[in-house]
Amino acid sequence: MSTPAQQIEALRREINEHNRRYYVDNDPVISDYDFDMLMKQLEKLEQDYPELDDPLSPTHRVGSDLTKDFEKVPHIYPMLSLANSYSVDDVDSWMSRVLEAVPGGDVTIVGEMKFDGSGISLIYEHGRLVRAVTRGDGEMGDVVTDNVKTIRSVPLQLSGNDWPERFEIRGEIVMPWASFDRLNAEREFNEEPLLANPRNACAGTLKLLNPAEVARRGLDAYFYYLLGENLPYDNHYDNMEAARRWGFKVSSAMTRLHGIAEVDAFIRHWDTARRELPVATDGLVFKVDSLRQQLNLGFTAKSPRWAVAYKFPAERALTRLRFVSFDVGRMGIITPVANLEPVLLSGTIVKRASLHNEDIMTTLGIHNHDMLYVEKGGEIIPKITGVETSQREPGAMPVRFVSHCPACATQLQRVEGEAAWVCPNKYGCPPQIIGRIEHFVGRRMMNIDGIGEETAAALYKAGFVNKISDLYDLTEAQLMQIEGFGPRSAERVLTGLDASRNVPFERVVYALSIPGVGETTAKKIARAVGNIDNLMTYPAERLESIEDVGPTIARNIIEYFEADVNRENIERMRRAGLQMQIAESAAPVSDALAGKTFVISGVFSRHSRDEYKALIENYGGKNAGSISKKTDYVLAGDNMGPAKLEKARKLGIPIIDENTFLNMIQPDNEE
Ligand code: IVH
Repeated sequence: MSTPAQQIEALRREINEHNRRYYVDNDPVISDYDFDMLMKQLEKLEQDYPELDDPLSPTHRVGSDLTKDFEKVPHIYPMLSLANSYSVDDVDSWMSRVLEAVPGGDVTIVGEMKFDGSGISLIYEHGRLVRAVTRGDGEMGDVVTDNVKTIRSVPLQLSGNDWPERFEIRGEIVMPWASFDRLNAEREFNEEPLLANPRNACAGTLKLLNPAEVARRGLDAYFYYLLGENLPYDNHYDNMEAARRWGFKVSSAMTRLHGIAEVDAFIRHWDTARRELPVATDGLVFKVDSLRQQLNLGFTAKSPRWAVAYKFPAERALTRLRFVSFDVGRMGIITPVANLEPVLLSGTIVKRASLHNEDIMTTLGIHNHDMLYVEKGGEIIPKITGVETSQREPGAMPVRFVSHCPACATQLQRVEGEAAWVCPNKYGCPPQIIGRIEHFVGRRMMNIDGIGEETAAALYKAGFVNKISDLYDLTEAQLMQIEGFGPRSAERVLTGLDASRNVPFERVVYALSIPGVGETTAKKIARAVGNIDNLMTYPAERLESIEDVGPTIARNIIEYFEADVNRENIERMRRAGLQMQIAESAAPVSDALAGKTFVISGVFSRHSRDEYKALIENYGGKNAGSISKKTDYVLAGDNMGPAKLEKARKLGIPIIDENTFLNMIQPDNEE
């Protein structure tokens, strides 16, 4: 009979192997059910024998949410970029330069995909993942190990045994199209802004503070560069094949190429074939295979001479403009939109493209019924990039920006110093009113289930809701008059409205639609003012002392509460029982730390990191993620990162332990 330690070890190996077959090789050999059973067995054993737990066990893939900010560390080898080329000719001349520089001229090239995600550097010691670092500025990056650990195709423990004791592997964290589409569908449903492309979505996800949320987002990773002292082979291709055996996902597109003709054929093939790939790519990368030749070619200040990137041309289509329409947003900003003859572009049909603002529209010089170039450079929102003037209809007139609001006919005003035009009829212009209702009920605001864009518009048109506070007077009978509503959906809205009485004051402030006050600013404002009466009466200079609030936002707040309709909204919502002040736990309890900025690092014994962060805020101090000249104290626990320690010492910033800190806020604290 084997010991628990041996059983655990065997299960971990088996599960790691199945994970790899599923996520890396795409070739599972057991059913999902059987896999779940293995995981359950391991979880049970780890629960029974907590002393045998290991942070790299496959059961920890989902991650805990302990880490709150990211430590910065220097890269062992700087993370450089690649020289770009945009045509086959460019690549050919790079090849010629390489051939000239290499004695004998016998050069093998490796062709690869250029994945469009976030570069990552992983350090392995004794076959175990010890650290994952983002590119950062190329010299220093953020340590995002906990987030990267949630990516199933990143091996935590390597297979085989021919890996160097310590090495670095670089690759790209990507968000596959399937995950990206799912995420955006969710965001659309929740009325959150859509993410522009998988690259942005991926970079944002890696910097999330909650690894469990990262795990849910479905990231993947491809690897393309092995670095270290004792690599197994003297060429790039074989090293990557070795990495594949150890459990890394290496793209099967990687190919050895001999001579310019094969390089050209590789480009022609992938120019179209890349559309079938599950992830976004923005080009190809060509590398000299031999490490000895790489060494001889060396680096320029910015990039290796032994590699070059070829960028795919952006996909472009030519189509006719039907008309330009003008959308009115929640804040009254007018956005010109090109309505097009439907055209197929990278697999989707495009009918509308934003023209952003008057300046962009004028620069393009669009005339009625022009033929327009639409581009989609890995972005979901297509752009108009040019006009085919040779196909312009004789006598066509330039498209003019509207002078009056298309919804309420009020004369537009240009925002000072900006390219935007706005409709000043804030409280009478239907799309603005509907937009504010829609925003108010959104998930991150009052989170009132059952009201989306259409319902908000229908409630307004029926005359039931003209301003946000009217929502709290809605009756079941009124709701039942709205198309598509029955007793159950009406009930859902009323329950949602009821529940919104408990939504914290920070989110109420965000829900109000004060121009310039987004989610984070709303939080800071709410905590600083404490209650709605202060927010409504503070003078500009007092508002401007709040972090993130400058003269413009201060003016917006004052103007907002000068409007009768808004003051009436507040009074009615106060009567309806909404939270109009900060909850006890969120309010500063003293200003003992006012004006002091802290950086927290390490592990603590008397409180958790999060508790220390909350304490700092409650006593009027500020938390920062990294050490700078502005830091007043570093609150250090055990195992503080060496990079942080050194930086604090260099800048002469006092490093205090938890007892000292607790004394600062409570002088009579003993122990
Ligand atoms: S090699 C020293 N190979 O592109 C050269 N990079 O523009 C190391 N990238 O920072 C990079 N696919 O994030 C290499 N097959 C590939 C790549 C690749 C994507 C990214 C990587 C790099 C950037 C350079």
